[in-house]
Amino acid sequence: MSRYRDNPEAIRNLVRETQVHRDVYVDPEIFALEMEHLFANTWVHVGHASQVPNPGDYITTTVGAEPVIMVRHADGTVKVLYNRCPHKGTKIAIDGCGNTGKFFRCPYHAWSFRTDGSLLAIPLKKGYENTGFEDSEAARGLTPVRHVVNYRDFVFARLNDGGPTFEDYFGESLSSLDNMIDRSPVGKLEVAGGVLRYMHCCNWKMLVENQTDTCHPMVAHESSAGTAVAIWKQAEAAGITQKPMAVEIIAPFMSPYEAFENMGIRVWDNGHGHTGVHHSIHSNYSAIPGYFEAMTGAYGEERAKAILDEARHNTVYFPNVMIKGPIQLMRIFRPLAADRTLVESYTYRLVGAPDVLLERTLMYNRLINAPTSIVGHDDLEMYERAQEGLMARGNDWVNIQRLYDPHEADQPTAVSNGTTEWQMRNQFRAWAKYMTMSMEGADHAG
Ligand code: FES
Ligand SMILES: [Fe+2]
Repeated sequence: MSRYRDNPEAIRNLVRETQVHRDVYVDPEIFALEMEHLFANTWVHVGHASQVPNPGDYITTTVGAEPVIMVRHADGTVKVLYNRCPHKGTKIAIDGCGNTGKFFRCPYHAWSFRTDGSLLAIPLKKGYENTGFEDSEAARGLTPVRHVVNYRDFVFARLNDGGPTFEDYFGESLSSLDNMIDRSPVGKLEVAGGVLRYMHCCNWKMLVENQTDTCHPMVAHESSAGTAVAIWKQAEAAGITQKPMAVEIIAPFMSPYEAFENMGIRVWDNGHGHTGVHHSIHSNYSAIPGYFEAMTGAYGEERAKAILDEARHNTVYFPNVMIKGPIQLMRIFRPLAADRTLVESYTYRLVGAPDVLLERTLMYNRLINAPTSIVGHDDLEMYERAQEGLMARGNDWVNIQRLYDPHEADQPTAVSNGTTEWQMRNQFRAWAKYMTMSMEGADHAG
């Protein structure tokens, strides 16, 4: 029996003010409804325009569970098309990326489509004469995703017709994307260095929550980051003064609770938020020769300082993206099943900035996010233990109460103590809202 389908009330009851029901992590029906509703009502990141620089360039990816192609059309615009032949449903493109030339050709019966999706040709076309084919769904070609926004080269899509506009959905949270882009002296980013993919046997939301969980680094990462700090202390005692880049990156994970408390957390409406309001684990990286000069030359000293003084740690773009502006990194948590998530980590080059910055970005990604990382699997171990632990019954609730303020739900944006779980609560309020707004019987409230 279906407990949650078309039962918005039952779904809202899974999210209380300070706790959430374990079904949100383990129930396959909830997962299916997330794909059908949550990932269709929200604005989901598809890709970056630099991944498809030339006409015919494409990448294949997913929005929720739905396969899509992001392609550079002949007119220079970036299109997002459902990756499904209108004839029999065959996926048109299966490579992760490539160039399709002037058209896509289906490998099954050779129907072909322009890069805006429109039908170009069908072999033996006369077999469709006088059949009314021109009025069929198939005659329209590959279906374009209707709601696509290219924000400073970051492409987002919303599958459903209902739902908020891009501007209403993201609001002031776009300031984090702006800051990452403005760190380029010419205001431009490029995906560089490949993508790291790392499979996690846990629910995707565990990863999203972890992005603003500041009470875990000094505990869960003690074995990795703590060891790095101890080794560096020995090196310093032996007279080594030049701190390696890797130590600069890893050591701040061992910052004490007070440091994380003072960093602050900011929440925005619709489930977005970030750690590192006042300072962060990215604040004390060494200056890169030539970079500040390039920034000052481009923006003037005051503006350059303002851009570089922002050290936002993790910005969550609900539902499933996190960016680190100061290190030019984006992680996407791709939901595959209730207990299966593919984590993709993309690194960006700041166009016009010294190459050392990209080196630091790539080193950060390898050290922290790679399947071979010494830090990332500390987290993975915790997620997988939680996924297994949540199969226990007797307590159906996960606690997200830390620094709860009974009036917080009335505040669309706020800055709080950096160890609050407000952002987790913020995500779940958005979760309940966007899960239910397109359901039969939903009153569109909340
Ligand atoms: S399934 Fe694509 S052309 Fe037949
Ligand atoms: Fe962690």
